[in-house]
Amino acid sequence: MSASEAITDRVKVRAPGKVNLALRVGGVRPDGYHSLATVFQALSLFDDLGARPAPAGHYGIAVAGDQAHLVPADGSNLAVRAARLLAARHGGEQQFGVELVIRKTIPVTGGMAGGSANAAAALVACAALWGIDINPDELRELGAELGADVPFCLLGSTALGHGRGDDLVPVLSRGGYHWVLALPDVELSTPAVFRRFDELNPDADPTPPPVPPALLEGLASGDVRRVADNLVNDLEPAALSLHPHLGELLDAGREAGALAGIVSGSGPTCAFLAPHEDAAVRLSGTLSGLGLCRTVRRASGPVPGARQVA
Ligand code: C5P
Repeated sequence: MSASEAITDRVKVRAPGKVNLALRVGGVRPDGYHSLATVFQALSLFDDLGARPAPAGHYGIAVAGDQAHLVPADGSNLAVRAARLLAARHGGEQQFGVELVIRKTIPVTGGMAGGSANAAAALVACAALWGIDINPDELRELGAELGADVPFCLLGSTALGHGRGDDLVPVLSRGGYHWVLALPDVELSTPAVFRRFDELNPDADPTPPPVPPALLEGLASGDVRRVADNLVNDLEPAALSLHPHLGELLDAGREAGALAGIVSGSGPTCAFLAPHEDAAVRLSGTLSGLGLCRTVRRASGPVPGARQVA
């Protein structure tokens, strides 16, 4: 199947990217992951995944979108691994088959959980396509086997994450938040950023620092300025040390009217919180004109997790 083919599949699922409003990082665990205390917000930057029936044992994939060439269109794609995992746990890989099409909008290796969103979407789509009755908790457990951010991409909205970031509790959040996302023309690998964090923090406490209580209070009351004042990302110094010019981009966004700017997750996407939608429109125009990044997008949050659409 060609990647440019329209999604005309029997099941279509839309899954959001995310920004970490707080990303507190502790020391490395025996399993190689870091202990996190994080607050995720799902953003209206979505990847669409279509799934249509295929002969048993066939797991095909095609990827469309301007960054499609950066995404593996083979069995190593996290969405294919998700489909195979679901099948394996519900009768065996040879019992089911699927042809997947992903249309990418979430930046690839951008620190916004694009791959995890595709895995979440594949779980939801294949469960629907194959008529597998699976409850949300079981779906999230499967998701956690695929990647630390997959359970949040299933849950969506706003959530507090502990452990690897996959032990989730929904967070009370009022109002909508307007973001401008600046996508630099560089890639950052998540493991490389965590390794740099280890180099910069050789004595990191195994327990991560807490999420700022004022951030949670700001979310509960819908106070965008309080939220902005309490955004924190412990991976930001590591990302900046790998790509120092991200600092210039962050400064430019703050000077152009953002309430706050942070590196999103492990980066390199920089996320700027605007006071309201008009300000976000102006900010995205200013940032686009500066030529400091490949592209600029606007998004709002929170939005729901991976879900089937008509
Ligand atoms: O789980 P996922 O495959 O998305 O994680 C990618 C990489 O990010 C891991 O292999 C690990 O290097 C790093 N990571 C980490 N601690 C976490 C989450 C991710 O060290 N809690």
